[in-house]
Amino acid sequence: MSHNRLFIPGPTEALPEVLAKQTDYLIGHRSKDFTALYTGIIGKLQEYFETEQHATVLTSSGTIWMDITARNIVQKKALAGVCGAFSQRMAKTISDSGKEVDTLDVEWGQAIKPEAVLEALAKDDYDTVAIVHNETSTGVRNPVGDIGAAIKKEYPDIMFVVDAVSSMGGNYMVPEKMNTDILFASTQKCFALPPGLSIALYSEEAVERARTVPGRGFYTDLVGIHDYYLKKQQNPTTPNMSLMYALTYQLDRMLAEGAKARHDRHEQMAQYTRAWANRYMEMFPEPGYESITVSTIANTQEKNIGDLNKELAKKGYQIANGYGAKLKEKTFRIGHMGEWNLDDVKSLLWHIDEIWEQ
Ligand SMILES: Cc1ncc(COP(=O)(O)O)c(C=O)c1O
Repeated sequence: MSHNRLFIPGPTEALPEVLAKQTDYLIGHRSKDFTALYTGIIGKLQEYFETEQHATVLTSSGTIWMDITARNIVQKKALAGVCGAFSQRMAKTISDSGKEVDTLDVEWGQAIKPEAVLEALAKDDYDTVAIVHNETSTGVRNPVGDIGAAIKKEYPDIMFVVDAVSSMGGNYMVPEKMNTDILFASTQKCFALPPGLSIALYSEEAVERARTVPGRGFYTDLVGIHDYYLKKQQNPTTPNMSLMYALTYQLDRMLAEGAKARHDRHEQMAQYTRAWANRYMEMFPEPGYESITVSTIANTQEKNIGDLNKELAKKGYQIANGYGAKLKEKTFRIGHMGEWNLDDVKSLLWHIDEIWEQ
């Protein structure tokens, strides 16, 4: 199979040595060996994210945490910030579960601000607020730390759920500093692993809330997941331990690099990409709120991104078109997450310049 360097916002490049870890022999998921593997992973996650919150790894992609939020955390009514396609999915998941949800909508490309959240919260009784950290469709990074502080100051009982699918593990974050009750991600983004696992950090209050909410299901039951770990230090259902072999190895690499250094590397790539984009076109997100893991660029020159990708493929690269009907062709996206560094981004942009003769 051909190998394109994936500058799309996930899945992103996974190192051969990381991929190779998946070929180790399987083990019983109720064995001591598995417990050692899994508790090791949980400890490494808590160390990397500097947290005393609970950590869990599920065999699913990140979206499962939208269902978990809907079925475990929302008691009656949630407020969901909607600033793009993925935050829209969260709102829909909550309403599909039969719970009430109001959306706090901002124009796509704009960020959700703490003042707007507080204004919305004053209008009704909400038990949950859901916000996306890094809206992968628009390339906006919402100020979730400020939002979390604002919510908890006035409404300490509201649960704060943050989708950090495309930023966690790249963008520095500590749940306690952001006041999150659930913070979740998928492995195929900044963790630079294959898709198939979701990672979440959750507060004790989130489990306490879940205990009061009926209809949590089985696979999506946070209480079941939590209690099983306390009792057995394992997952309630059979996990993909092959991916966990890769995850435990990758977490060692991430810890060796350091969360802050990893953040700085992503910031460098983002700044370089932004400067490049602003030379020829412009960034789609409102200034000051650009993601450091994916750059969404307004396609003001109406370039054909499909054609660009055909040319890039000849050189072994791939970028992403805009996400969904609303942003396709109007924008395109360069994912610079996970393993990539500034030199890799420079090479990619050099090739684009050459193809576009600019
Ligand atoms: C912000 C955000 N949320 C949720 C998802 C869905 O993640 P998954 O495909 O791992 O379920 C994505 C995927 O790109 C995303 O970027």
